[in-house]
Amino acid sequence: MENVFVMDHPLIQHKLTLIRDKNTGSKEFRELVKELSMLMAYEVTRDLSLEEVEIETPVCKTTTKVLSGRKLGIVPILRAGLGMVDGFLSLLPAAKVGHIGLYRDPDTLEPVEYYCKLPTDVHERELIIVDPMLATGGSAKAAIRFIKERGAVNIKLVCLIAAPEGIKAIHSEHPDVDIYAAAVDEKLNEHAYIVPGLGDAGDRLFGTK
Ligand code: PRP
Ligand code: URA
Repeated sequence: MENVFVMDHPLIQHKLTLIRDKNTGSKEFRELVKELSMLMAYEVTRDLSLEEVEIETPVCKTTTKVLSGRKLGIVPILRAGLGMVDGFLSLLPAAKVGHIGLYRDPDTLEPVEYYCKLPTDVHERELIIVDPMLATGGSAKAAIRFIKERGAVNIKLVCLIAAPEGIKAIHSEHPDVDIYAAAVDEKLNEHAYIVPGLGDAGDRLFGTK
């Protein structure tokens, strides 16, 4: 599938299996989501640009490479996206963090933004939107739209599990946004849950029901 990168690293696949298991409790689930996010951050940042600098090792002067200062932003979709922030920040400590919260209007079923706070220089940053689940794509599609309305032009979407329906929805409205996922599952069920999925990511992270 175009613009979809499935991360099939064995560590990612192993940890994904653990979080799918319904017997995995919240504490372990949170730890695993953090570890998965770190591993995914490593893959997602593969194309960051580098520049040469001169340094002195204890042995001699040498020319070597550092990140060329491209500005990054991590944007979790509230609330489950919060579970992925720490993993990303462990590898990208200089990234700024924005937040976006959406709920679905019970009458129109349209996503409504209830919170949005982004870095002020959002137009200059590469934004990585994080949310464990891409199901119908309604939340991510709206979040991307709201973030673009505030000037963002360079956006990636990282989720743990994506449904084909969600991928299609993002591609149709935001063909410029690359999607990174640890797995693309089979389908959605009649309640718009991903099958086999992992259940409700927010509830499993935060121990709610
Ligand atoms: C979950 C998940 C995504 C959304 C995916 O959040 O974290 O944001 O559902 O579904 P969609 O692709 O069909 O929009 P939820 O709305 O349950 O809120 P929560 O994070 O507060 O649990
Ligand atoms: N949101 C979740 O948390 N899980 C799903 O399977 C679908 C949407």
